[in-house]
Amino acid sequence: MNIFNQHSILNDFIDQNQTVGLVPTMGALHKGHMSLIERALNENDQVIVTVFVNPTQFEDLNDLKKYPKNLYDDVKMIEKVSPKIIIYAPESNDLYESSIISSSYEFGDIENIMEGNIRVGHFQGVATIVEKLLTLLLPTNAYFGEKDFQQLLIIKSLVVQKKISTAIIGCPIYRDNNGLALSSRNSFLSESEKNKAPFIFEQLKIARSLWGIESAKTIIKRIKNSFLSNHNFKLDYFEIRFENNLLNAEKKSEKKVRAFIAAKLGKIRLIDNLALDEF
Ligand code: PAJ
Repeated sequence: MNIFNQHSILNDFIDQNQTVGLVPTMGALHKGHMSLIERALNENDQVIVTVFVNPTQFEDLNDLKKYPKNLYDDVKMIEKVSPKIIIYAPESNDLYESSIISSSYEFGDIENIMEGNIRVGHFQGVATIVEKLLTLLLPTNAYFGEKDFQQLLIIKSLVVQKKISTAIIGCPIYRDNNGLALSSRNSFLSESEKNKAPFIFEQLKIARSLWGIESAKTIIKRIKNSFLSNHNFKLDYFEIRFENNLLNAEKKSEKKVRAFIAAKLGKIRLIDNLALDEF
């Protein structure tokens, strides 16, 4: 297995005449991550998976400290898919040198709503680390999940603003059979919470079934009420927005729309989203 913790040594190993697919992760890999890695393998000569829990995107220090880490298991999982995959698992100083702070970006409203409203500064940290990875490793393609749809739009805006030539590829959400979107944080759910968690996807599907019949306002009210009567969850937001600019959508039109949700189940915060026009 090719594991590197210094980007300068990794860069010497990469053949710049071949295509390179990059899959940035924070580790604690699951089948959702693996679906991105498999797509990258299909579409590129070489694949780099980065495993780095990026401190600047955590607005809550406790959350950073508790974030699940298990490089050994991550490597085993990647190795099973293909021993050719290159892993970059650096310490902070290989990416941040002495000062672990975010750079400053202007993303407009897509940064300040939903996750950005609740996790202030989060997307500045995400953009900082993704810009570093893209400019240091110069991949042909970089793969991101629609699970973090707002993050995907931020990164698309980042590469345009910074004139980075890497193609940003969005990949569908990988779900358990019961509909729960896979997430590293799911490992913190108790067995009984795991059985309750699919409620989130069920609500998204209800929203999808009503889209085109009821207005966004009515659907949002309905879903908020379902959460009020389910005491296992504390809803952070439920919103219906256009896919391209994340402005609020009011009713069905020819423009693609998604429902976005964030809710706490016990102590664990879960996020999910669903395209309302696709079945
Ligand atoms: P992380 O949460 O580890 O996720 C890494 C990538 O996997 C992200 O692009 C995320 O959207 C994708 N992903 C996670 N769960 C998924 C699922 N169930 N289906 C499909 N894709 C899924 O997102 C981050 O790390 C970080 O913010 C990062 C981009 C690495 C920057 O630090």
